[in-house]
Amino acid sequence: MKALMLAGGRGTRLRPLTHTSAKQLFPVANKPVIFYGLEAVREAGITEVGVITGETGAEVRAALGDGSRFGLRITYIPQDAPRGLAHCVLIAREFLGDDDFVMYLGDNFLLGGVQELVSAFRAGDYEAQILLAAVDDPRSYGVATLGRSGEIVGLTEKPAEPESDLAIVGVYLFSPAIHEAVRAIGPSARGELEITDAVQWLIAHGHRVHSHLVSGYWKDTGRARDILECNRMVLESVEPRLDGTVAGRTEIIGRVVLEAGAVVEDSVLRGPIVIGTGTKILRSYVGPFTSIADNCMLEDAEIEYSIVFDNASVRGVSRIGESIIGRDARVLPAPRTPAAHQLIVGDHSTVRLRA
Ligand code: G1P
Repeated sequence: MKALMLAGGRGTRLRPLTHTSAKQLFPVANKPVIFYGLEAVREAGITEVGVITGETGAEVRAALGDGSRFGLRITYIPQDAPRGLAHCVLIAREFLGDDDFVMYLGDNFLLGGVQELVSAFRAGDYEAQILLAAVDDPRSYGVATLGRSGEIVGLTEKPAEPESDLAIVGVYLFSPAIHEAVRAIGPSARGELEITDAVQWLIAHGHRVHSHLVSGYWKDTGRARDILECNRMVLESVEPRLDGTVAGRTEIIGRVVLEAGAVVEDSVLRGPIVIGTGTKILRSYVGPFTSIADNCMLEDAEIEYSIVFDNASVRGVSRIGESIIGRDARVLPAPRTPAAHQLIVGDHSTVRLRA
């Protein structure tokens, strides 16, 4: 069995952050979201991984390397433009050969790994296996309709009027039968070759497709609020560790990870939070469900339920919440602005707020 990890796409819903960064590398508890997927693949005993890359290919390669740090062998497969998930299978034909494979969308976060799914697929006699999860608003996903005995009746990509609340999760298992399906389908209304249509093609042509309901936690981190939510979930179970320097009148409450090389002085840290190496926190408050990456600076600031990327600084501003602050961004005070702050600040931006 092989794995096909998808790390292309434009990440339009996360602009401006995705103008400069691959969405699959966005940090969840200070670790790129795609790393969780790669680790899950390895835990399932898979070592051969094809990674589909797009415009951000160079950044993805730099982060993943040859895969050895995960115990994997990575083959990069560049996609010239975001032509759809089924197109990714099409261009990976040579890499995949006639093996079964797990296809994993690099921006999907699935708690509990894929080992059981892989075993179930191996034990069953199916051409494809999909995962489903009930969501509040299924319109931005592929949606499945199930029959009385749980069999899949139909699959539709992003329906305006969904017939069920069951979204298709971005982790699929395929036999080589999928290759015929991806060649047979045409582009969707958004001009892409949809994997949903390919799986629907398998069903329509009498192939056996099995579906599993996700029992644990799943998030597609394609939108800002989903990344924040996912970050919260991972931080909930973080193991506290204070390897950095704690100085002055600092109060630390709850689960806090302070990496070696981080410095906190005269501040209040209320976990669960993680703080990366090289980061300085001075006279500040960092509240629950916040991840602050490496080499950041927080000075006379208050922040909670937020994600701060590498090298960002926040100085002299009161409570920031539910915010994502991009790499190298600076948040500073400015006179005469309204009191409310809710920010999604792109990489290299500067935002001025009331002190
Ligand atoms: C893709 C699939 C969709 C699936 C979703 C899961 O959507 O097309 O069927 O439900 O991933 O994350 P996209 O992220 O490309 O909009």
